[in-house]
Amino acid sequence: MIVGAQWGDEGKGKIVDLLAQGSDVVCRYQGGPNAGHTIIVGDETFKIRQIPTGVIAGKTSVIGAGCVVDPEVFLEEVDELESRGVSTADVHLSGEAHVIMPWHVAIDQASERRLGKLQIGTTRRGIGPCYADKAMRLGIRVQDLLEPKILRQKIEVALAEKNVWLERVYHVEPFELEALAAKLERLAQRIRPYVADTSLLVDRALRNGRDVLLEGAQGTLLDLDHGTYPFVTSSSTVAANAATGVGIGPSRIDRVVGVAKAYVTRVGEGPFPTEIEGEDQARVRELGGEYGTVTGRERRCGWLDLVALRYAVRLNGITSLALTKLDVLSTFAELPVCVRYRLRDGTETEEFPAHQSDFHSATPVYETQPGWRVPLDGELPDAARGYVQFVERALGVGISLVGTGAARERVVALR
Ligand code: GDP
Ligand code: IMO
Ligand code: MG
Repeated sequence: MIVGAQWGDEGKGKIVDLLAQGSDVVCRYQGGPNAGHTIIVGDETFKIRQIPTGVIAGKTSVIGAGCVVDPEVFLEEVDELESRGVSTADVHLSGEAHVIMPWHVAIDQASERRLGKLQIGTTRRGIGPCYADKAMRLGIRVQDLLEPKILRQKIEVALAEKNVWLERVYHVEPFELEALAAKLERLAQRIRPYVADTSLLVDRALRNGRDVLLEGAQGTLLDLDHGTYPFVTSSSTVAANAATGVGIGPSRIDRVVGVAKAYVTRVGEGPFPTEIEGEDQARVRELGGEYGTVTGRERRCGWLDLVALRYAVRLNGITSLALTKLDVLSTFAELPVCVRYRLRDGTETEEFPAHQSDFHSATPVYETQPGWRVPLDGELPDAARGYVQFVERALGVGISLVGTGAARERVVALR
């Protein structure tokens, strides 16, 4: 299982693509097209949002029950991959996954606008409203797409409420039943061949001794329960949810690889203790190409936060870490690493504060590590190795992979 250990965009796509080479099945278990995973193979760059990264490596790819699916985005991605010679014949979509409907996108956009300064900074892809309807038991599932009568009825029931909401509360255009139903029926015809009993598929793969990778989207601190609520996504991103999201038992997961950047980024609003002050932030952003894959927004950049990373190790039961983008730090003479937080009352802690106000007001206590100031290629220079070992010692977890560039082969395996 591969999980993001920070606020997303840790480089999960690259690590999953790498580990997929030796695996048989790759599954997404939560989230939807809010994800943006970049995979670089040779001269080709793929940016995938909805389909598991394993598709690039030609592996069986599963979108599990815990995911939300935008049919248009899914099919656009299918077309894009097929047109570039990547087959989607082995992509399987759970009938239990929920469908992001156009009103979810409209409500996400309108609600963010309405929140103004208080906005979450969502990707505006309808994620929150879709998961909310799922919890309300008003959702439309992938399997509903396969039954035109049920689909039309569900759209009608939903629109009766959503249109009032859209018009009266948000003052935006309502949706028209006939046009929408016709459009979804068309999309459904193309979705049909991908729909499968994915829980059974993964169970059978495991029984047959196949290697299965579970690919997390977003990151630990965006988890709905344990993240920096309300500045989080609307699904549970942590490792324990992977079993639920795919439909297998937790005893089937034997290793949890956390993916963390050698620094930290965050897109969207919310507290961020190690956010870099001054011009170094822009420097890291430029060097790391830190612009959102989905929205193109500037990512906020910070120094590595070991308090937050320790929390991610705890929440996910991380058994080893992949530390990505170490190359981005190569130009800095000194590298601050946050080892503790100083709280409002003047005390210091190595543990992530359980209370939001403590976290909001926490200030980082840094220990400075020496930089290496040479490009990373192959064997790590002593100072870079020292940085890695400093992190390992602080967390009590081994770092098995170090990223030294965006391409698939730019990685150093330490163990
Ligand atoms: P994900 O959402 O976790 O899959 O991450 P994204 O793909 O959104 O963002 C990570 C970015 O960093 C992508 O542009 C990757 O190509 C790039 N990347 C991944 N690993 C490395 C690395 O080790 N070094 C550098 N320089 N770039 C990397
Ligand atoms: P990957 O898989 C980084 C953030 C948004 C926002 C919050 C809620 O590429 O790591 P949402 O649209 O989910 O309701 O937005 O979560 N967010 C991400 N940030 N990487 C992602 O995905 C993200 N998916 C959502 O910026 O702050
Ligand atoms: Mg991303």
